[in-house]
Amino acid sequence: MTTPSLGIHCQGLYKTYPGASAPALNNVNLTIEPNEFVVFVGASGCGKSTLLRTIAGLEGFDQGTLTAGGQPITGPSLDRAMVFQHYSLYPWLTVLDNIKFCRQLAAHTDGRTSGDVADAEGRADALLRLMGLTHVARHYPSQLSGGMQQRVAIARALMSRPPIILMDEPFGALDAQTREVMHDLIKHVHRLERSTIVFVTHDVEEAIYLGDRVVLMAPRPGRIDSVHTVPLPGQRTQDMKLSPEFLGLKRTLLDRIRETSGMKTDLDLLDKLSRSSDLFQA
Ligand SMILES: Nc1ncnc2c1ncn2[C@@H]1O[C@H](COP(=O)(O)OP(=O)(O)OP(=O)(O)O)[C@@H](O)[C@H]1O
Ligand SMILES: [Mg+2]
Repeated sequence: MTTPSLGIHCQGLYKTYPGASAPALNNVNLTIEPNEFVVFVGASGCGKSTLLRTIAGLEGFDQGTLTAGGQPITGPSLDRAMVFQHYSLYPWLTVLDNIKFCRQLAAHTDGRTSGDVADAEGRADALLRLMGLTHVARHYPSQLSGGMQQRVAIARALMSRPPIILMDEPFGALDAQTREVMHDLIKHVHRLERSTIVFVTHDVEEAIYLGDRVVLMAPRPGRIDSVHTVPLPGQRTQDMKLSPEFLGLKRTLLDRIRETSGMKTDLDLLDKLSRSSDLFQA
């Protein structure tokens, strides 16, 4: 059984947090196709998490249209699973029970029978195998490494076959080697489950390696600066990171992030200060 893919559509989206001097989202327009893998990058504070949480239905917005599968987003839904940077597992549940937890909730809320939950056992086992977690199924989260905990969080998100998976810097706390393994794993899951994935990261290499498209956001006000189609085949291999296409896009994105973040101006100012004043002299 494959997941029915759903697209996401944002049109003229505005959001300003109470008391903020600039909108966190300023006229955001974006269409994400069903089964697309889209990655948001951009300087800190440009609204990546705000946009993701708004798509998740965890945040409201002031103006505009936001739909998933053509239906207006008015709150959280089992169609849209979220994976956070911090693994947010239930410490009192084993790995297996963490993975099955939301499925059990779904059985409650949708009025399904406990038979439905029993049917889910097979999927829980398959996800444990896919994530390489079978040998720790009866362990508690505190007994696992960071990478293992994040694999449990992803397995839990996948449990109810969500058509849309939203990930906010999910690998931000992992070491470089574990991240590479997780990248290949999530690409594999994307192919296998045919879900639509929206992923937020600070890491431009991660964005290019994972994304079909990279959406570059800029701060003050939070907005979409530019959208880049990744000029690589859908199936990625680690050696593509050295290809001219990969390196060219990396350079473009890094330059643009530097320009839009204001860092360039700050460094120029520091340069001028150090040349022209005695501020830096003892
Ligand atoms: N709950 C909140 N209340 C008020 N302002 C907020 C809130 N959350 C975010 N903001 C502000 O909205 C803007 C966008 O924040 P957001 O967290 O979406 O940025 P981000 O791109 O995810 O940044 P980072 O890369 O640092 O995670 C920032 O100016 C931030 O200070
Ligand atoms: Mg963020």
